[in-house]
Amino acid sequence: MAQTKKLIGKERALIAVSGGVDSTTSAVLTFKAVGSNLLCVMLDDAFMREGEPKHIADIVSQPPVKLPLEILDVKERFLKAMEGLKDAEEKRKAFRETFYKVLGETARKEGCKVLVQGTIKADIDETTGGVKTQHNVLKQMGIDPVEQYGFKVVEPLASLYKSQVRTLAHHFKIPTDIAERQPFPGPGLSVRVVGEIKRDKLDTVKKATIISEKNFAKHIPSQYFAAILDNQTTSHSRIRHIEENLARLLNVPSRYVSIKAFEAKATGIKEGKRKYGGIAALKVETMNGAHYQPPISNLIALQAEVTRDPSFTRMLYTIQETPQRQPYVISLRAINTQDFLTAEVAEIPWTTLNETAGEILKACSNVSAIYYDVTPKPPATIEME
Ligand code: XMP
Repeated sequence: MAQTKKLIGKERALIAVSGGVDSTTSAVLTFKAVGSNLLCVMLDDAFMREGEPKHIADIVSQPPVKLPLEILDVKERFLKAMEGLKDAEEKRKAFRETFYKVLGETARKEGCKVLVQGTIKADIDETTGGVKTQHNVLKQMGIDPVEQYGFKVVEPLASLYKSQVRTLAHHFKIPTDIAERQPFPGPGLSVRVVGEIKRDKLDTVKKATIISEKNFAKHIPSQYFAAILDNQTTSHSRIRHIEENLARLLNVPSRYVSIKAFEAKATGIKEGKRKYGGIAALKVETMNGAHYQPPISNLIALQAEVTRDPSFTRMLYTIQETPQRQPYVISLRAINTQDFLTAEVAEIPWTTLNETAGEILKACSNVSAIYYDVTPKPPATIEME
C-alpha cells in the first residue's frame, strides 16, 4: 500500500473496476492508500453478465467496502468497435483499444494522470509467454501508456498470484461474493462469443451463462461458464481415421461414433505456444440408439486421441441436440486448477449436464446443440475464444 501511495503521489488516479477479485482488490487497496484521489469507474461495455454492473456497484458501494463506483454506459461504442471481427486476437486488440481510449478520455476529463489496474502475475506470464493478448498488460508488451493513452500505469497486484489476491481481498473484508468469485476475463463475454459478435449471439450466451452458473456452482469447480459458436462445420481429411481410432478405443463399430469439425477456431496451446486450432465435436451412440454418457474421465481419454491430431486443440462432447438445425451451439466448460496456468476438466455429473442442456435449449430457440468441453489446459486454454 505504501508503494502504491508513493507511485501515485499527489496525482489523481483512475481505476476501472469490473467486479472481479483482481480489479476490486486493487481498487480497495488504492482507495485505502490515496482516498478520494482515486476515481473508480465501471465500464458497462455490453460484455458483462446480465444485470452485473448494477449488482457489483451495489455490493462495493455498501459497507464494509464503501468504494464509490460510477457506471459508464459505453455499450454501443464497444459493440461498434468489435463489429465484423472474427479472430480472437483481433477482438482482444479492438477491445483493448476501445477500453483504453474510453479510459484515456475519462482520465483527461477528470484530470487523472495515473491509471491503476488489477493485473496479476499470471496475466503477465501468459501475455509475455505469447499465449494470448491480455487486455490489461501494456508495459509488458512494450506499449508505452503515457505516449499512447496519456497516463502512467500503476499495478499494485502485479507480483501476486490469484490465491494471494483472494487472501488480500478477505483481509480487506471484500464480500465473499467478490473475493471468491470465479475469474472472468477482462473483455468479458466478448471472449466467450467465438467468432463474430452478433447481438443475438451475445444475448444467447448471456442466457446460457445464467443457467450454467446456477447449475454448476454446487459442484464448486475453479471456473465454469458457457461459450457460444456458429453452427457451421467444415470438412476435415482425417476425421474418418480419427473416428475409427475412437471406435477401436471404445470397442464399438465405427458407425456409432461421429465427429464434426467446426469452421470456427479456438485458442489453444501446443508445445508451450498459442495455437489457434480446430474444434471437434464428438457424439457416440450406444448399440440401442441411446446417447452414450460415460464417466467424464473416459471422455477426457478420447479427447487426448482427438487433440493428438495437429489441427485440433479442443474436443467437445455432445450432451443434447435439437432435431432442427439452428444458427448457434453452446459449449459448457468447468475446470479445476490451482494456478490457472494448467487446468483439469471438472467431472460434472451427467444429471447436471443434462439438466443444464435442457434448460438452455428451452430458453434459447436459436441453439441446436449443447456440448461439454472435455479438453484440459493444455492443449486448450480455459476460456474458449
Ligand atoms: P486462459 O483462457 O488463458 O485463461 O486459459 C486463464 C485464466 O485467465 C482468465 N482470463 C482473463 N482474465 N483478463 C483477465 O483479467 C483477460 O483478458 C483474461 N483472459 C482470460 C480466464 O478466465 C482464466 O481464469
